[in-house]
Parts: sequence; structure tokens; C-alpha cells
Amino acid sequence: MSEFDGLRAVITGGASGIGLATALLLAERGAAVAVLDLVPEVEAPLHGFRADVTDDSSVREAVAAAADLLGGIDVLVNNAGIGAAGTVADNPDQEWNRVLDVNLLGVVRTTRAALPYLRASEHAAIVNNCSIAATAGLPQRALYSASKGAVLSLTLAMAADHLREGIRVNCVNPGTADTPWIARLLSAAPDPEAERAALNARQPSGRLVTAPEVAAAIAYLASPSASSVTGTALAVDGGMAGLRLRPAQS
Ligand SMILES: NC(=O)c1ccc[n+]([C@@H]2O[C@H](COP(=O)([O-])OP(=O)(O)OC[C@H]3O[C@@H](n4cnc5c(N)ncnc54)[C@H](O)[C@@H]3O)[C@@H](O)[C@H]2O)c1
Repeated sequence: MSEFDGLRAVITGGASGIGLATALLLAERGAAVAVLDLVPEVEAPLHGFRADVTDDSSVREAVAAAADLLGGIDVLVNNAGIGAAGTVADNPDQEWNRVLDVNLLGVVRTTRAALPYLRASEHAAIVNNCSIAATAGLPQRALYSASKGAVLSLTLAMAADHLREGIRVNCVNPGTADTPWIARLLSAAPDPEAERAALNARQPSGRLVTAPEVAAAIAYLASPSASSVTGTALAVDGGMAGLRLRPAQS
């Protein structure tokens, strides 16, 4: 018997990168998986539903349709997110509202819609995709970091509010992960190779995190084997948050 046999999972932003790797891993481990995305182009056994996490009615409709198809929801992975560059002075209010609307309010809307189903589950778990940017000061990431800092705090508050309803809430904090998002960021850089080298060097491990590595951490937090784990942030960052290495000896 597989770990997720009989469990039903909904993953926002599950058509690409970390979300897709998570959807595939949970399905491989026995879960029935619904992907909610702007462009929900996924292959069987994944089920795609169109949803924009900035639109409450679109989220409610997609969550209800996914729960209908799967016969309920046990696991919610709030993964959809977008990036933003710049210092606190660089983005107008409109951009702050746009990014917070996806990265923070997207978690709120999807969780709100999924809660009635999660309350009915014997193994309810929510995993939010947060970021190293919530716990370390990164240059040129003021807005993105603020959005993820809010996700970290929201994770803790949700874990407290829903503990007695049997719903665990945790988050993962990935370091820079090699996904289509980072590919887009690199291709927009003046010198993509130098930018990749700089991102690699920022990780104590000397390389980017992979999407399957983050998916494995999300799967752990979502699984019944983590039944005593709630209100935690699991770093998947090649040591970036916790380590202080000496320069390598040549
Ligand atoms: N890649 C990294 O380095 C990294 C590091 C830390 C945290 N994260 C977080 O991981 C998550 C996924 O990132 P990724 O690198 O896999 O990105 P990605 O761009 O490959 O995938 C993001 C997915 O979210 C979907 N999405 C975006 N806006 C949406 C909306 N309004 N409604 C529904 N779906 C929407 C996109 O269509 C896409 O399928 C994000 O929350 C991101 O902040 C990424």
C-alpha cells in the first residue's frame, strides 16, 4: 500500500515547476490529484482545473469541482506564486497589490474554499510554498520577500486556528530552485551564465535546488507520517538559511 492511497490532493500552480513536481510525486505515491492553474494543461493521472487564485469565484468553483471529482480533499498545497524584483522604493502600489494578491491572498482564498472539505478529512494537511526570502534578507526582493514573510506568519496562524479541527498546516522554504520561473529570470538577465553562477554560489551547496527535492519535502509534510508536524517551516535550500561556511580551500 502506498503512502497516499485513498488521499485526495489539490495543488495550486500545479502545471509547472515545483507544483507540477509535487503533483506527479503525490500521484506516484497513490494520491488522486487535482491541479488548479491559470493554464491547467496536465496529463493523466493528474486532473486539471482552470483557476485564477486572484479571483475568489474562480477559486471556489475550481475547488468545488475538484472536490466533486476526487470525492473530497485531504491535502491542499498552496503553491501558486509570482516573483517581483526591486527595493522597497522600486515598485508602485499597483505592483504591490498585484503580487500580494497572488502570493498571499491566493493562499487565503484557496484555503477558505478548501476548509469545509479538509474538516471532513481524517488526514487533513495544508502545505504552503513559502521561500528562503521569508527568513533571509535578499537584495532586490523587497516585495517578494514581504509576500512570503506574510505566508510564513499565516502558516503559523492557520496551524493554530485549525489544529483542533484536525488540520495540520506547514510550509516549505525553498532556496532558489531550478524551475521554468528561474529559467525566465535567467534568460532576461544581461549575462544569463553569470547570473546562474551567482545564484549557484549563493547556495552553500553550490547548486540550485531541484523541483523534485522541494516536492519531496512537501510530500513529507502532507503525508500521514508527519501527523505530529504542524506550524513548521521546512527549509529546502542547500543550507542557505542556516549555515555559515568558511570559503572552500583550494
Ligand atoms: N523557483 C524558485 O526559486 C522558488 C524559490 C522559493 C519559492 N518558490 C515558490 O514556489 C512556487 C512555485 O514556483 P515555481 O518556481 O515552480 O514557478 P513556476 O512559474 O514554474 O510555476 C508557477 C505556477 O503558478 C501558476 N500561477 C501563477 N499565477 C497564478 C494564478 N493567479 N492563479 C493560478 N495559478 C497561477 C503558473 O501558471 C505556474 O503554473 C511559488 O510560490 C514560488 O514563490 C520558488
